[in-house]
Amino acid sequence: SEVSSEPEQESVSKDVKEQLEPPLKGSLTGLVIWATAVATIGSSFIFGYSIGAVNAPADHIKEWIKINHYEIFGTVLSDDAKGYVFGSAVAIFALGALIGALASGKLADNFGRKGTLHFNNIFAIIGSFLMDYAFYRGFYFIFHLGRFIIGINCGIGSSVVCMFVTEIAPANWRGALGTMQQLLIVIAILFAQILGLKQLLGTATRWPWIFDVALIPAIFQIISLYFVPESPRYTYVIKGDEEKALKDLCLYRNSNENDPMIEREMAEIKKEAEAFKTDAKIGFKDLFRGALFWPTFLACFLQASQQLSGINAAMFYSTEIFKSAGLEDDWPIYATIIMGVTNVFQTTVSFWLVEHRWFGRRLLLLIGTIGMLISTVTLTAAIHVATRGYGDTYKAIGSWSAIGFVMLFVISFATGPGSIPYFYVNEVFASNARATASSLATGTNWTFNFIIALAFLPLQVF
Ligand code: GLC
Repeated sequence: SEVSSEPEQESVSKDVKEQLEPPLKGSLTGLVIWATAVATIGSSFIFGYSIGAVNAPADHIKEWIKINHYEIFGTVLSDDAKGYVFGSAVAIFALGALIGALASGKLADNFGRKGTLHFNNIFAIIGSFLMDYAFYRGFYFIFHLGRFIIGINCGIGSSVVCMFVTEIAPANWRGALGTMQQLLIVIAILFAQILGLKQLLGTATRWPWIFDVALIPAIFQIISLYFVPESPRYTYVIKGDEEKALKDLCLYRNSNENDPMIEREMAEIKKEAEAFKTDAKIGFKDLFRGALFWPTFLACFLQASQQLSGINAAMFYSTEIFKSAGLEDDWPIYATIIMGVTNVFQTTVSFWLVEHRWFGRRLLLLIGTIGMLISTVTLTAAIHVATRGYGDTYKAIGSWSAIGFVMLFVISFATGPGSIPYFYVNEVFASNARATASSLATGTNWTFNFIIALAFLPLQVF
């Protein structure tokens, strides 16, 4: 149940209400699907794409940095230094995203969920342009700046997309639609990895084009958001416009105001709006007080543990990891693509699992986390066997089982820990705290993403 600043009173009245009325169920309409598609194909795609885009062409980018550094400063970067400069471009993206995520709550409450997504595209356009321009201008700091700016876009999107989608979804579809953000993230990661193949854009001269591709979803979203209504919950609760909220809700439910389900949903939103007026506005500090402390702790903890699992070490650097595990020729990048396909497949499965009565959020998180624990331990053993010079047979066994354990790791991640932390926060907080809590939770996610990317720097200098 949702948490407001008056939790006990709220939960008691909710329990009584739930005994009297069946839970509010609605069907999935074309407009809800369209709005979810526009939000996720735009923002979540750019998020995933920016994560996956540096993976396959890493070697080319590093080489370019080395040459470019020599042209600018007249000194030769060592291989280690070249790795650090590249790694810092990978990590600075998460720093931009952290800033975007922390600002997202205020932006989403002031400009609306849809409004924020709309202008957020400007960061994607500037960021993509700069990453490509850096190559032609011959200045690698511009590449870093581009990664930072597109990071801001991804930080804002990572919080606001899920907020918007869970607000417009009928209650019984919130979990499934909440996983759509993650699905588009992983599809985009895979897409970027495929484009990084040397037959496509993964060459010494074509790699800058990889970064232009993010312009397509940005432009798509700028245009298509004009055909998406704002979240009725936002319009009513935060803006106090009951009439417009009712109109948009009827559009989203493909129904009219005399429909008893619309009346019930409006009554529910109205209750939230009244609480919003009387309850104090929740700032970052208030989230750590009283009844809000525990849900806040859980929301941030889930996000922190998602990142501390090390998933992005695999997403950013898997091609290099596979190389160091002994795979040769083009196999490291093929293995990366197989990993991406596995991620997409299992995220699709979790879309169904998350609303299945046998599972639920908690069990899926548990299964996923235990799976990740087992696979990281076994992966370490496999890499050890592959690289310690026990002979060719052991090398082959170690390398191939390393791929298997990375797949198991990704399957476990996609089962629950990948998507649930993003929509959990929107499900448990009421409107007066939702944007702030989501902003803090996704901010936590990006903080640890940044820390992992940095901590991995000394390790990824292979
Ligand atoms: C989640 C994580 C993101 C990661 C992705 C990989 O969206 O938040 O950091 O790259 O999953 O599937």
